[in-house]
Amino acid sequence: MNRKAYTSMADPLTTPAAELPVRRLGPEDLDRCLALSEDRAWGPERRKWLFILENGEGYGIDAPSGELAGTVTLTRYGTTAAGIGMMLVATRYGGRGLGRRLMTHALEAAGDAVVFLWATESGRPLYEKLGFETLCVAEARVGRLRAGGDPVRSRPADPGRDLPALLALDAEVFGADRSALLARLFDFAEQVRVVEDDSGLIGYAGMWRNLNTLVIGPVVAGGEEVARALITDLARTADGPVRVEVDRTRPGLLGWLGDRGVSQAFWTSFMVHGGRPLPGDRTRLFAPLTVAMG
Ligand SMILES: CC(C)(COP(=O)(O)OP(=O)(O)OC[C@H]1O[C@@H](n2cnc3c(N)ncnc32)[C@H](O)[C@@H]1OP(=O)(O)O)[C@@H](O)C(=O)NCCC(=O)NCCS
Repeated sequence: MNRKAYTSMADPLTTPAAELPVRRLGPEDLDRCLALSEDRAWGPERRKWLFILENGEGYGIDAPSGELAGTVTLTRYGTTAAGIGMMLVATRYGGRGLGRRLMTHALEAAGDAVVFLWATESGRPLYEKLGFETLCVAEARVGRLRAGGDPVRSRPADPGRDLPALLALDAEVFGADRSALLARLFDFAEQVRVVEDDSGLIGYAGMWRNLNTLVIGPVVAGGEEVARALITDLARTADGPVRVEVDRTRPGLLGWLGDRGVSQAFWTSFMVHGGRPLPGDRTRLFAPLTVAMG
């Protein structure tokens, strides 16, 4: 779209939010998404934004300047569940109903799926107004993990050999179809590792680069010991601080991360629309791929 096309658009400063057009975003909007992130002092998370725009659905409201006035993303897991993220409204357009407009649009697009998100304190009041309920608080833990003398318990995943078992385990635990996203994980991540026992694959985890941090997620494991082993083995190869999101219903894991030098950077509220039950077996889901997707 050229600049002239934008200048004929509705101005969010003068048009009621309910009448503002919401359009689908694509990878070509990446720079505009990054400019909006910068406006809200979020980092220039180019890789993450691109991964979401390519594998999820981005929605945006244009500003006449050619920039984006607001964004939200929706990542569908079949028709069962959907994650919402990247909810941003440019500072100059804040408090005018754009956030509500975008979120309402995303909720309509999600249909009957159970919709979840991780909310900052800035976003939580809006989400509560729209019917989201807090299920738990998740801590974003960041730091260089000290592996100590722990033996290596996992091995690098081989997509050809491990993908079917990994997808089967994930389907049980996540309870909705993440197969398309997980197939892409092998390209996106620096490493994917698995743990097996006599029964087969009992855990897997990925680690991907976001700015100068290596995000550990998803972490799916039969128990906390397996989750710790996966996190330790991934962190051994990290050339910088790692980040992992763990909710406060897991004090043992949080305490262990703290002892290993991975401390709380900030926290978010995990919310579900309408307080509906989530599918799958969340006891084995230790960390999301990213809080923007699930
Ligand atoms: C959160 C954010 C998207 C809200 O966008 P917005 O366009 O300003 O929100 P709206 O004007 O649509 O607000 C919708 C409703 O929520 C309320 N609301 C929004 N933010 C609020 C806040 N921080 N505290 C209290 N109420 C708030 C508004 O009063 C409004 O209520 P009403 O519809 O009953 O009048 C925006 O502040 C933002 O981009 N923040 C920084 C990035 C961020 O943290 N995003 C959330 C990530 S989870």
